[in-house]
This record gives sequence, structure tokens and C-alpha cells, in this order.
Amino acid sequence: MERADLDEVMAIEEVSFPTPWSRTLFEEEIGRSFSDALVAVSPESGEVLGYAVCWIVADESHLLNIAVRPDARVQRVGTALLRECIRRGARAGADLIHLEVRAGNRAALRLYARDGFSFRGIRRGYYTDTGEDAILLSRELRESDAT
Ligand SMILES: CC(C)(COP(=O)(O)OP(=O)(O)OC[C@H]1O[C@@H](n2cnc3c(N)ncnc32)[C@H](O)[C@@H]1OP(=O)(O)O)[C@@H](O)C(=O)NCCC(=O)NCCS
Repeated sequence: MERADLDEVMAIEEVSFPTPWSRTLFEEEIGRSFSDALVAVSPESGEVLGYAVCWIVADESHLLNIAVRPDARVQRVGTALLRECIRRGARAGADLIHLEVRAGNRAALRLYARDGFSFRGIRRGYYTDTGEDAILLSRELRESDAT
């Protein structure tokens, strides 16, 4: 992700979440040494189809944000972004990737389940905008994930 992507990233962010990240937050992620901010770009049009932000801190990767443009969903763009986060975490020597997801987010739960994430716990009322619970998921990272 680069600053030039942020108009498209923000347009996706604003239709994807009840409490979207601000542009400033994305700008901060682009500059952080321990953050990987990725975009998935259409090979035909060059448009941003989705993005993900993951941190690698203390041998763990944390997926903080992932979204796909509504008209590009269910075409494996989310899977590609998730797998790139997994690959980068494994390459950096992390042994675990973890994340939080809204309990009612069926699309995201399906995405993570397909890629081997397991239930680790629940935080009641974690999302203060809707009162939803957070499901905590994680997945071990292996050497084979680095390729
Ligand atoms: C979650 C999200 C990133 C998934 O991206 P995507 O590109 O559509 O996902 P993929 O095409 O890679 O699909 C992965 C799996 O999830 C399934 N899936 C995707 N959307 C689904 C939906 N709305 N309902 C049920 N399953 C769904 C796909 O069918 C696929 O499983 P399958 O291969 O067994 O069929 C996308 O829906 C999104 O941007 N949502 C809004 C933002 C969001 O909720 N982010 C996650 C925060 S934790």
C-alpha cells in the first residue's frame, strides 16, 4: 500500500465497516516498520480490489484489517490477501497469526476457517459500535507457509 492508493482504500473501507479506519490511520500503517499494509490490484485495470494490514510483533503476526471491494468479493481476493499475510509472517519467523472478527461476520469467519484458523476465545461486547462480540481466532505458522 502506498499513499497513492488511499483514495481507493478509503472508498472500500467506508462501505465495509460500521466504524471505518481514518485515512490518517492508514497513513500511519504505511510508515510503520513492523506493519505490512498490502493492496490487491486488478491486473487488467490497475484498480485496488482489496487490502490487508498485518503487524509482526514479538514472534506473532496480527491481522488488523482486511477488506475487499464489494463488486470484487467471493472471487478469492480476500483469500489471496490473507495468504500473503500468512506468508510474510512465516518468512519473518512468526510462529502464530491471530485476529479478532465480529461474531456475525459470516463471510470473514468462512474465509478464516478455510485457511485453518481455530477458535481461541470470545470477547463479549468488544465492538462498542454495535455491541457485537469478538471471536478470537489464530493459526500456527509453519516453515511451509513461507513459500
Ligand atoms: C471478508 C471479506 C474480506 C472476504 O473477501 P472475499 O474476497 O469475498 O473472500 P474470498 O472470495 O476469498 O472467499 C473466501 C471464502 O469465504 C466464502 N465467502 C465469502 N463471502 C461470503 C459470504 N458473504 N457468505 C458466505 N461465505 C462467503 C467464500 O465462498 C469462500 O469460501 P469457499 O471457497 O469455501 O466458497 C469480504 O467479504 C469483505 O471485505 N467484507 C467486509 C470487510 C470485513 O468484514 N472484513 C473482515 C474483518 S475481520
